[in-house]
Amino acid sequence: MQYAPDGIFEGDARRIADHVLPAMVSLSVWSPPYHVGKEYERDVTFVQWKNLLRRTIEGHATILRPGGFLAINIADILCFQDPTIPRIMADNVSAKRRRDITVELVRRTWHEHRDMNRHQIARLLGCSEQTVDRRMQGNNIRGGKYEAQTRVFLTGKLVEDYAYSAGLYLYDRRVWVKDAAWENSRWHSTSYRAVDEFEHIYVFWRPGPTVVDRDRLSPQEWRTWGSRAVWHIPSVRANDDHEAKFPVELPRRLIRLLTEPGDLVLDCFVGSGTSGTAAIQEGRRFIGVDKEPRYVEMARAALAAARREVASSLDLRMTPDARVPDRLGGPARTVQPMLALEHRTGYAGNVSADQCPARSPAATPGEGAAAVADGFVPSATDPGRSTCGTPR
Ligand SMILES: C[S@@+](CC[C@H](N)C(=O)[O-])C[C@H]1O[C@@H](n2cnc3c(N)ncnc32)[C@H](O)[C@@H]1O
Repeated sequence: MQYAPDGIFEGDARRIADHVLPAMVSLSVWSPPYHVGKEYERDVTFVQWKNLLRRTIEGHATILRPGGFLAINIADILCFQDPTIPRIMADNVSAKRRRDITVELVRRTWHEHRDMNRHQIARLLGCSEQTVDRRMQGNNIRGGKYEAQTRVFLTGKLVEDYAYSAGLYLYDRRVWVKDAAWENSRWHSTSYRAVDEFEHIYVFWRPGPTVVDRDRLSPQEWRTWGSRAVWHIPSVRANDDHEAKFPVELPRRLIRLLTEPGDLVLDCFVGSGTSGTAAIQEGRRFIGVDKEPRYVEMARAALAAARREVASSLDLRMTPDARVPDRLGGPARTVQPMLALEHRTGYAGNVSADQCPARSPAATPGEGAAAVADGFVPSATDPGRSTCGTPR
């Protein structure tokens, strides 16, 4: 079965080349499973996961048009279980210290020092206010699986090697800075490791003629993200329908940068349909694939909503007749009125320097401000989504 443009299909990314005609795709943009134990990758072994990446990337050797791109959004595995490495001999003294602070001890101390506040009690006991709080509220020591044989696994080398052997070459790489995932980065409280707060975007190129058109983006866009390697984009906050969505701004930037209107964009791990939404909003054709029927339905609904949104933002109007100069130096001619389609609203990220709230002293500090400084203004339809990655 051939996957026709503007459809979402239930299928297996590993077999993508069986369903998409050769050289059809201008940009394939996707975020695969990260091998971090999500529901949709349950029962997938590490070897099977690597095979999924390898075979999917190999399929792109034929379906990408020469000069086209494959953009992979992926994170490193920050708590990769590896029984072959030496056991990490961490003597977690802070956890032990906390463990010595029992409920009874906190109660007794507070009873003896009734005039003290929580901060003073914590200082007296040599622990954090949070520990005092937890004991008083009856909570036990914070959970967080202590893994004695885990290491960081870098995924970049893996996808680069698979792409290289398929004849696709690393053209560019960017870093997506997302929200810090404290809750899911359990290791941070039992080790010196950082929490998870960035992912990679690797852009591979199929050799062939590649148009470089600097007019694809405005000077403001080039300055704020087009030419910038670090993209600050808030995570998707409501992951209630799909547990690992990326923010629509991420595929939108890649689509605007690497394709022309009318080009075909593919996402063979389409999930909730985020990249399809971006493609439709940017006037590109789109094919989406997912192995889970429920995500196929979700992505179809997302695409339909995006089409409705685009349609309602178009105005059909008559252009006025106009006098245009003759290029060959003859007398000016009158051009007949005609029907024209116009966008009522512009692209939310396409703000000019003086409109950019980052330049205003009122911009909020922190992540929101970083995102705005980066040229990204969350639109009403994308109020900052959560993330792909260990804890996406
Ligand atoms: C990280 S999520 C992608 C989320 C998507 N970018 C979004 O914003 O909603 C990965 C998706 O790949 C799908 N998937 C996993 N294995 C697959 C396979 N072999 N073929 C196609 N889809 C697969 C999962 O069902 C999941 O929806």
